[in-house]
Amino acid sequence: MTLYGAIPFMQAHRKDSTVGIFWLNAAETWIDITKAKEAKNPLALGIGAKTNTHTHWISESGILDVFIFLGPRPADVLQNYVELTGYTAMPQEFSLGYHQCRWNYMSDDDVRDVDRKMDKFAIPYDVIWLDIEYTDGKKYFTWDPNMFSDPIGMGKQLEEHGRNLVVIIDPHIKNEEGYEVVAELKSKDLAVKNKDGGVFDGWCWPGSSHWIDAFNPAAAQWWASLFKYDRFKGTMENTWIWNDMNEPSVFNGPETTMPKDNIHHGGWEHRDVHNLNGYTFHNATYQALLSRKAGELRRPFVLTRSFFAGSQRVGAMWTGDNQASWEYLAASIPMVLSQGISGFPFAGADVGGFFGNPDKDLQARWYQAGAFYPFFRGHAHIDARRREPYLAGEPYTSIITAALRLRYSLLPSWYTAFRRAHVDGSPIVRPLFYTHPGEEGGFGIDDQFFVGDTGLLVKPVVEKDKDTAEVFIPDDEVYYDYFTYEVVATGDRGKTVTVTAPLEKIPLLMRGGYVFPRRDRPRRSSALMRWDDYTLVVAVSRDGKTAAGELYADDGDSFEFEQGQFIHRRFVLDVAAGTLISTDASSGAAAKARKEGAWLQGMRQVVVDKVVLVGAPAAWAGKKEVTVESEGKTWTAPLVFTAGEKGRAGFAIVRKLGARIGADWKVTFA
Ligand code: GLC
Repeated sequence: MTLYGAIPFMQAHRKDSTVGIFWLNAAETWIDITKAKEAKNPLALGIGAKTNTHTHWISESGILDVFIFLGPRPADVLQNYVELTGYTAMPQEFSLGYHQCRWNYMSDDDVRDVDRKMDKFAIPYDVIWLDIEYTDGKKYFTWDPNMFSDPIGMGKQLEEHGRNLVVIIDPHIKNEEGYEVVAELKSKDLAVKNKDGGVFDGWCWPGSSHWIDAFNPAAAQWWASLFKYDRFKGTMENTWIWNDMNEPSVFNGPETTMPKDNIHHGGWEHRDVHNLNGYTFHNATYQALLSRKAGELRRPFVLTRSFFAGSQRVGAMWTGDNQASWEYLAASIPMVLSQGISGFPFAGADVGGFFGNPDKDLQARWYQAGAFYPFFRGHAHIDARRREPYLAGEPYTSIITAALRLRYSLLPSWYTAFRRAHVDGSPIVRPLFYTHPGEEGGFGIDDQFFVGDTGLLVKPVVEKDKDTAEVFIPDDEVYYDYFTYEVVATGDRGKTVTVTAPLEKIPLLMRGGYVFPRRDRPRRSSALMRWDDYTLVVAVSRDGKTAAGELYADDGDSFEFEQGQFIHRRFVLDVAAGTLISTDASSGAAAKARKEGAWLQGMRQVVVDKVVLVGAPAAWAGKKEVTVESEGKTWTAPLVFTAGEKGRAGFAIVRKLGARIGADWKVTFA
């Protein structure tokens, strides 16, 4: 049974075979899932019985419209599904950074103060959020005149360090005399109707309210007009939007939503389209942000609580109101993984837990897990104590800051994973049945996952007082500890290995055979890292021969990537040849026809500064430098080799490599 959102898409998987069913019906839907032992021979008394799973789908109304996807791999099923329902939008790059939210920052001074404190404690963050209290009496598109008297001044302070503001705009419009927005909603006849054809009135945060009917194209058009900078005064280029309560949530409605006999545009009863309601509103806001100013074409950022199949095309989601408890931290991992295999991977849970006050261990562990949610936001209920990371005190503030810095250093890898999702629907965080569809031991595991195509395997600690993690190893590759380069597994397919994980440590492994990009100087915000040089981490495969990986980068903001303004590189290590090579991986007509715009020109200054080779061949001991060839020039760069010892792999670090990230290059080790 759904609460906030619904993606009526089921996958059934057994070794080497996957099928998918998509039930395209927007009415409220229930699914019974039962598992039962079934034997071919009923007289066998259960001997030789198999467990079968039956599902029973019940939609309140509508027609049967069912799609079947045949696989055979989970990736095939998912690819077919997203081809039908749409690809993840390329996000604003800043939105992969950390979001600092609470209900509520109480004034523009409060916001400025948090912003300054984050700087003082050198804690990176990209976005600060305003919940419903910023408004004048819960009237959206207005500001509380006393507490938020200078929103532009506040926005400008954030802008100084490349930061952004997100403000909440909900679909319930306060029914109050003199409020221009509700007057227009009524006079233009754009609200949802009750069964008798009058404007529906219900209760939400503002009290008596009406609901915009975003099923109506004219309503969506009007909605767009409300977001123009000169209409929604106090907003500026770094203001973005949060859509909440769009299920819709109606406090005095049946099951806290709208009466099912309410009427939408075109005469549709709410009962027929209930599960699609949230998407229409989210989509209207997305479209609105595309047209805030003539000539401004930037990717919108809109977070939604309610969603349906296809919502991935217009933004991000979060899992709604959770509790500050270990159980909810644990539950967040399968929830986020489910989103990923359902075509809507830009997902996260409220870090720290919405209701209640996390103890500091829980808060620290939650930041470590959150650093691996595609959408990473701390949030808290209005009655919860303040808990900005700098308030935690030592050692917690440092532990949380380290998790945030890890996230920031890996942003190039996260962004590359989003690009994959955008072109083929791949999940950003991936469960084992998806990555290893032939390894049965991993099918039931939903508390560890891989990040994109990086080979990074994460197992967040979600239990109190736990200082180890049991990680299931799905193949025979070598797995290195991310922080120590210790060989944690090699040839251990199907086994569970124990990784030490004291409070300050995130269990994070690197699978051999992968190359992934980082930026090793986490700054105050992602925008300030825009022109920073790259580090490549190369995790050499178990056979000691290879590693490969990719980097995708673009301006992170406009749609110019659609005209080829992007860099897409493929990196291949060939130990026998003694080379690491970067080649152009971009494809498509746009890439071929690309003209170098401002962003690509800026990237001419950006180089690969450092390469870290984990599992570097022992034969490289004694090497002091490498040869770099690029753009018709040849030079050397220093290499430091450290031999393996006591279970730690040997590793080599090349510094000051100096080859442009956008150019072809070859590094020769031998
Ligand atoms: C809902 C949201 C929550 C928000 C609150 C006030 O409960 O899920 O995130 O803080 O409304 O707007």
